[in-house]
Amino acid sequence: MNTLMRLSPQLHHWRTYCIKQCAAAGTEAAARGKPNYEEFIGSRHQQAQRSIVVQVSSEKSYNELYNYCSRFGRIVTVQHYSVQHEDELHYMLLEYASAGEASAAISSSAYNAELSGSGVPVRSPFLWFRAPTGGAGRRGQAKLAANQKTLALHTVNGTRSLSHEALKELLRGAAGIDQQLNLLYEQTRLNELGVRMRFIAALQVEQAISGMFPDALAQPFGSSVNGFGKMGCDLDLILRFDGKTPGTDQDSQREASRLIYHTKENLSNGRSQTQRQMECIGDMLHLFLPGVCHVRRILQARVPIIKYHHEHLDLEIDLSMSNLTGFFMSELLYMFGEMDPRVRPLTFCVRRWAQSCGLTNPSPGRWITNFSLTCLVMFFLQQMRQPILPSIGAMVKAANTADIRVTEDGINCTFARDMERVGFQSRNTSSLSELLLQFFEFYSQFDFHNRAISLNEGRALAKPDHSAMYIVNPLEQLLNVSKNVSLEECERLRIEVRNAAWMLESEVENATLSESERREQSWGLLNLFKHPEKSVIRPNMFFKPRMVEVSDLFDKSQTLAPTPPPVNYKNPT
Ligand code: GTP
Ligand code: MG
Repeated sequence: MNTLMRLSPQLHHWRTYCIKQCAAAGTEAAARGKPNYEEFIGSRHQQAQRSIVVQVSSEKSYNELYNYCSRFGRIVTVQHYSVQHEDELHYMLLEYASAGEASAAISSSAYNAELSGSGVPVRSPFLWFRAPTGGAGRRGQAKLAANQKTLALHTVNGTRSLSHEALKELLRGAAGIDQQLNLLYEQTRLNELGVRMRFIAALQVEQAISGMFPDALAQPFGSSVNGFGKMGCDLDLILRFDGKTPGTDQDSQREASRLIYHTKENLSNGRSQTQRQMECIGDMLHLFLPGVCHVRRILQARVPIIKYHHEHLDLEIDLSMSNLTGFFMSELLYMFGEMDPRVRPLTFCVRRWAQSCGLTNPSPGRWITNFSLTCLVMFFLQQMRQPILPSIGAMVKAANTADIRVTEDGINCTFARDMERVGFQSRNTSSLSELLLQFFEFYSQFDFHNRAISLNEGRALAKPDHSAMYIVNPLEQLLNVSKNVSLEECERLRIEVRNAAWMLESEVENATLSESERREQSWGLLNLFKHPEKSVIRPNMFFKPRMVEVSDLFDKSQTLAPTPPPVNYKNPT
């Protein structure tokens, strides 16, 4: 019987969710060919348990490493990547057929004070491959010849995104804007290795503390898993001490057990308790975990986080312990991305456009975030005459008892996880380039002054307060996702969407360019991603009536001074 069905809704929090997730992962996904979010997360988590990351001196070590590591089990994939420090460091990510085999390889690892420096030995999936010593080395070499080339090595640049120049070249060679949109998505999205690396980073944290916290679970969320992540995106991680129980048979036995963990009573309130625990976990990561460096604690934020860099994965990580709605929000975005193949390429383009004109910025501030921008795209796709996405309200209506999720702080994250039950079918046949233009046109007309955006309703509502931009938080509907956005930034968004709409319309003229002309000049999305100052000097732009100035968009009755042009424009990476 399904664990979720047996429990009352109040008990359907994180722990039971994870039990179901682990049980369901893999099998259903394989049968349907398209995993749902829980299956996707579950199977990636299991894949990480079957994997190790070994630092080698170069790619040439592959055969020797493969041969050596085969003694612990059957290796199913090997991927090579490098990370640039002072020198180029090389790594092999090996996946075994089972978690037991990966564990055997880790258990066989030695501690060598000379090679490991003064560090304390820590069990982790990150290992070194040292040069062979004495007779063992010679035996290893002899066996190598017989076993060579048993598996193709995939060399992937796992951590770096395509250079701006390479991307430009690629987009120039496309057959049209639609192809440019697809190419941009395919070439810049997080690749297979990037996903694997992020789940290994999560597992490292989980395994490091599992002795003391047997039910701990470190779960990736955000753009690393929702399908909207680009190469090099950060990893958002949520750590729960009561996240899982190992193995489902054992789970049901444990649920019935009369022996209950004795635990320490919490003496302070929930938030300061979490902050203290995070401080402690932050120190532990900093002092003991291989690869973890530049640990920073940001404990006063609305969601306290520990930030760190992983040098073996070349990855920025944000670890939180109290952001379960963020996790379920990622599930919603994942589902939206899976519903229609146009959703992700369109969002990638909008995010890149916003980055290129300086509307988004990696540091938090009064500007729109990538998450809010993604919400704008989802809303646009919901409110169309022929919608491409359903409202969240429709997904909530179609939910059944197996979909009930309530976080520990009582936030209801229930919505149908099975799209067939939602019964939504889009009849919209617009091309990607048409949608992109419509997106810009829609927001250049949108009444941000009076209207709020509701993904729950799939339509605009009256704005409940005076925030410059109001996007109803889909899972906590009393909150505004874009509360941080200032009036100036909101106006700047409106200017930029108008300019983008104008520019895209004028790109129709370029449709007549010959293939060689296309190769020689910027066209299509390349003009959209141009540094704004450069795009403004295009001569014919001055004659276009739709090109607007910042001051045009201000309500003249207000005493606000016009916003100066942004100074922090960044080149796209
Ligand atoms: P990048 O990190 O910019 O690539 O995008 P991201 O989607 O990972 O955004 P971010 O790291 O800021 O947030 C991580 C995830 O937390 C998002 O994908 C959302 O699922 C969730 N999230 C962020 N902000 C909010 C919010 O205000 N409300 C809710 N419910 N979820 C949020
Ligand atoms: Mg993120």
